[in-house]
Amino acid sequence: MSNIIDQIIFSFTNNKSLYIGEGLTISEHMIQAAMLAEKNKCSTDLICSSLLHDYGHFVLESPNQLASDHIDGNHETIGANYLKKYFSNKIIEPILLHVDAKKYLARNKKYFDGLSEASKISLQLQGGIMSIVEAKQFEQSKNYRNAIKLRRFDESAKKQNIKIKDIKDYKELLISKII
Ligand SMILES: [Fe+2]
Repeated sequence: MSNIIDQIIFSFTNNKSLYIGEGLTISEHMIQAAMLAEKNKCSTDLICSSLLHDYGHFVLESPNQLASDHIDGNHETIGANYLKKYFSNKIIEPILLHVDAKKYLARNKKYFDGLSEASKISLQLQGGIMSIVEAKQFEQSKNYRNAIKLRRFDESAKKQNIKIKDIKDYKELLISKII
């Protein structure tokens, strides 16, 4: 168990990759998302999902983690597949669905218009706005509401030069969620 916790803390501390198109690191972005979940008094499960939602980017950049499971796919699938051995489905499903949540929300014109140009482009690459059938399917997922909440935090977690927590501040939470 301590292995995965150490691995997560190591990745957050040492991965300096920038969050695509934004002036902050992926680590900072995920910590900000977790802080927003806390601020909105979300469940500890959702705080954990928010903290780990882009972990797939770390896996993609770490040949060791990637090769160990022969996993491929998009970052949300890679992250979810990698982490599901350690965390419950309540935590994993919002991670897996956080891209679908954007495709779901984009059916709303106001939401779509509010997306950045980069986000509109990635939306197309991710399959575009959901059809009615796809949206109905999405709503069948047990934790889709949490995926939508996570999506909102994801979009707001891009502030630069604000004081944020350290990944070690979340160590106890992570340990408490290991299955
Ligand atoms: Fe994100």
